[in-house]
Amino acid sequence: MYSHDIATLTSWLDEARSAVFFGGAGVSTASGIPDFRSAAGLYASQGPGGRPPEYLLSHDCLVDEPAEFFAFHRANLVHPEAKPNPAHTGLAELEAQGRLAAVVTQNIDGLHQLAGSRVVYELHGSVERYHCLGRDRHQFTLAQIPDEPVVPNCPRCGAMVRPDVVLYGEALDAEVVDAAVAAVRRADLLLIGGTSLNVYPAAGLLHYYRGDRLALVNLSETPMDYQADLVIHAPIDEVLAEVCKRLFG
Ligand code: APR
Repeated sequence: MYSHDIATLTSWLDEARSAVFFGGAGVSTASGIPDFRSAAGLYASQGPGGRPPEYLLSHDCLVDEPAEFFAFHRANLVHPEAKPNPAHTGLAELEAQGRLAAVVTQNIDGLHQLAGSRVVYELHGSVERYHCLGRDRHQFTLAQIPDEPVVPNCPRCGAMVRPDVVLYGEALDAEVVDAAVAAVRRADLLLIGGTSLNVYPAAGLLHYYRGDRLALVNLSETPMDYQADLVIHAPIDEVLAEVCKRLFG
């Protein structure tokens, strides 16, 4: 079953010229970054003081309790040592070989770009970028954010500095969503990987796909399995490594 499905996915990707990959935290678990809803995921245990992680990653927490927000964010969402895994490098190769048009990711770790992907739509932003809450919205990179104080302030205007990450209670960037929707609409293959498809509006983007090659590669079942044309319950990093080996050697 598994090898037959890999053969099908390989031929679909070989024929694709505008495939889109839609991914989530399961794409980065092989890079040592825990996902959210698996048994070993970030949401499997309470945050400090018994607070739910979903609160600690929310706009309300950033505003009302910035020290708690940044302590949790720095400890759990920032992984400067993480390296791209074969899922990231495989997708970059598929783009370089003219099969893949775009990566649409819910991840904020920047590993797709680090692996060489050029067209990446980060629906939930990135921990690599920060901005201050002052009038001029000064921009910073992660490397420019000091470890202390825990709550960083803008060296130019003194306002609080925050990550360019979409927090619970915040809207997605309309331009990013529009570009991602346009790519999904145009896709001749939609490959979904490493996501539980639990979170909207991100998961809703899939309904813009109009083709008949919707492939889903996820360790566990998702609400979209029944709508997919191909479902492989296996590690996305291993599947993409095998597909790229067959396509490009
Ligand atoms: N290969 C394939 N699937 C995997 C792998 C892997 N190596 N590792 C984990 N998975 C699967 C898990 O079984 C799970 O179904 O990836 C999925 C990850 O799901 P979530 O933890 O819910 O992560 P995600 O879908 O990205 O969450 C979406 O929720 O909390 C918010 O903003 C956060 O972007 C995140 C959003």
